[in-house]
Amino acid sequence: MDIGKPEEGETVVVSGAAGAVGSLVVQLAKISKCRVVAIAGSDQKCAWVKSLGADVALNYKASDFRSAMKSACPSGVDVYFENVGGSSAEAVFPLLNDFARVVACGMIAHYEADGGMAAGNPLALYSPQIVIKRIHIQGFICTDIIPKFPVIIGKLVGLVMKGKLKYKMDEVVGVENSIKALAGIFQGNNMGKRVIRMSEQPAVMPMRQFLMLKARPFVVGAFAAVTAGFLAKSRKK
Ligand SMILES: NC(=O)c1ccc[n+]([C@@H]2O[C@H](COP(=O)([O-])OP(=O)(O)OC[C@H]3O[C@@H](n4cnc5c(N)ncnc54)[C@H](OP(=O)(O)O)[C@@H]3O)[C@@H](O)[C@H]2O)c1
Repeated sequence: MDIGKPEEGETVVVSGAAGAVGSLVVQLAKISKCRVVAIAGSDQKCAWVKSLGADVALNYKASDFRSAMKSACPSGVDVYFENVGGSSAEAVFPLLNDFARVVACGMIAHYEADGGMAAGNPLALYSPQIVIKRIHIQGFICTDIIPKFPVIIGKLVGLVMKGKLKYKMDEVVGVENSIKALAGIFQGNNMGKRVIRMSEQPAVMPMRQFLMLKARPFVVGAFAAVTAGFLAKSRKK
């Protein structure tokens, strides 16, 4: 919000919109009363992102993606929240308005072993547009805002509690599947936040189960000690 500075009525484009970061950005932009165009990698993801409130959701793998982007942004783009780079950036940059803001959060299309050159060089792609349109691009790293975490998390939790912010946990079970689960992100096979559950055992054990299984020896021991103390006292009397 501090970097993109979305204003009511502006057009915000979010790439990687069905991911952990993107799905929240879509909803926060809607809460700021912006028109939101979301980009994701499958029709199923697009349907989910639309259900979160996006005005338009486009599949960047569709053959008509670039022309669809143009039609979806008749007044140009004021804020671009960049999670991906590559073909999404190629389609969005020519549509940026003068003084548009680009929040550079991630460039997943460029993380490959070859330096992501297969997906094009994002800096070369952006440079003429940046000058001509006086575009403001700022990188964002979440560790910069650690001091603000209590306030930000408080606000986000408040929105979740009011039902204004939805999230999806994309869970893979078993520590042995961690590598596959992480690699899967690069194939786009997650929807929402990918998390790895270390085992089938629920992370938070219900209180009753905790008392029965883990705390039983202590409960029984404490009960025995109290009873023994009570008996010893009554014998002395
Ligand atoms: N700056 C920070 O502090 C910070 C913090 C966390 C994450 N990030 C970055 O933010 C971005 C999103 O992170 P996330 O955790 O929310 O991940 P995510 O969006 O939940 O998962 C990554 C998604 O990126 C898409 N993708 C993968 N390879 C792609 C490619 N070659 N071209 C286009 N899209 C591709 C896939 O979705 P599709 O099916 O839609 O292709 C995949 O599901 C990433 O770039 C990540 O590195 C930055």
